[in-house]
Amino acid sequence: MTAAPRRVAILISGGGSNMLRLVESMVGDHPARPVLVLSNDPAATGLEKARALGVPTAAVDHRPFAGDRAAFEAALLQPLLAARPDIVCLAGFMRVLTPDFVARFAGRMLNIHPSLLPKYPGLHTHQRALDAGDAEAGCTVHEVTADLDAGPALGQARVPVLPGDSADSLSARVLAMEHRLYPAVLRRFAAGDRTPVSLP
Ligand code: GAR
Repeated sequence: MTAAPRRVAILISGGGSNMLRLVESMVGDHPARPVLVLSNDPAATGLEKARALGVPTAAVDHRPFAGDRAAFEAALLQPLLAARPDIVCLAGFMRVLTPDFVARFAGRMLNIHPSLLPKYPGLHTHQRALDAGDAEAGCTVHEVTADLDAGPALGQARVPVLPGDSADSLSARVLAMEHRLYPAVLRRFAAGDRTPVSLP
């Protein structure tokens, strides 16, 4: 008898290109299926893209909570828990989560970050890599822990920094690798294998 597929919820804030790659990957013999795409922004364009693929969506606007993170997260938890996820994937979700929220999904929440962590946690990763004169950049999928962008790495992908690169051109090169890395990590993780993925 085959095991029931792992239920995956994906949290987004914007266009959701990583979310799309994850959803598209969860077919056939993949050990997981998408059960919810959830955003903190009702206008996030990724929501419509998820609906077009037949994935249920929900949005909880963070703005009315005016910085009350606990109240926002309580509201966010309603659709999230109702979807009964086994795994939660942050994919361009741009709100910092409290330790209480993270603890609920300990060991089963992943994030993709556009740098070679531990370098450049936080924002403006590409400009920071350029400013430092780095020869390579990349992205990391890691387990989410209470410390921002600091949980155990589950995969990394590297790209060269090229002469004349801007933050935009570097970001596009890294994003193309994000689209390969995150599905590869999720497939492995959903099968119970935490061996880090290394690309290319
Ligand atoms: C991606 O580059 C992702 O790594 C980054 O936001 C972008 C979302 O793009 N995430 C972070 O910076 C998290 N701190 P997408 O909505 O097209 O997937």
